[in-house]
Amino acid sequence: MDPNMTSNSDNNDNIATPEHTPQLQAFREVVESRRSVRRFTDTPIPDDVLADCLRLAMLAPNSSNLQPWEFYVIDNADKRKRTVKNCMNQNAAKTAARLIAVVARTDIWHDHAQQILREYPETPVPKKVKDYYTKVVAMDFLRGPANVVSAAKWSATQVVRRVKGPIKSPYYTFEDTKNWATNNTALAAENLMLALRAHGFDSCPMGGFDEPAMKRLLGLSNDQHIIMMIGAGERADNGIYNSQFRFDQKQFVHYV
Ligand SMILES: Cc1cc2nc3c(=O)[nH]c(=O)nc-3n(C[C@H](O)[C@H](O)[C@H](O)COP(=O)(O)O)c2cc1C
Repeated sequence: MDPNMTSNSDNNDNIATPEHTPQLQAFREVVESRRSVRRFTDTPIPDDVLADCLRLAMLAPNSSNLQPWEFYVIDNADKRKRTVKNCMNQNAAKTAARLIAVVARTDIWHDHAQQILREYPETPVPKKVKDYYTKVVAMDFLRGPANVVSAAKWSATQVVRRVKGPIKSPYYTFEDTKNWATNNTALAAENLMLALRAHGFDSCPMGGFDEPAMKRLLGLSNDQHIIMMIGAGERADNGIYNSQFRFDQKQFVHYV
């Protein structure tokens, strides 16, 4: 179990009724006014605003606090021009005040586990935390040459599941690790877009881009995956192409 999952109190005092909670109203406004904006004005996003949005992005929940994300803010004029082309010249990229590549990393879990132990807010680092980041995390991610460790992990997991009961599956393949990194990074991407909205700006997430070309442009490795490009700026009057709609909740929500 993640050592950060233990809590000192079960305090529910802060739960208030929806009608009387200003935070809830503000949250609703932010979420409900966020749209994918395809045209932005010339108004720049100040550096301090963008820095705050990125800070809020990285407060997203993430597995074992391993923070497998990166954000490339593409401000260089030449790189920006090539990025727009790689985003298929979409208006959301062409008119964006800032362009951001959101990257998930499959190689960083080990370094970040070590960094957590170096920067842990308690000294000395509790033994259960040290054990978690040196043993449990390593077992979760290690695959070994030709996935030999994964094969052993798979067999051991089947046995434990049968004999002792429920056990979380570790990551066996590169794709498992990529899914893990992508899940975590997507949560940060959503935080980023909501933070931009809360600051009065807007965004458009873009999956329509040439990933190999973007990776070359940013000099990324095979362990750095651009999960989406984000165009950001101030919403133009003609920035929204259609009314927002979603299917009925009943189609998706299952109370079991
Ligand atoms: C992963 C992802 C990829 C997307 N790719 C594009 C894109 O390439 N171009 C675009 O204009 N919108 C893109 N969108 C925006 C969606 O079209 C949009 O979120 C959806 O139509 C709902 O509209 P709304 O965001 O305004 O609620 C993408 C959204 C996501 C989450």
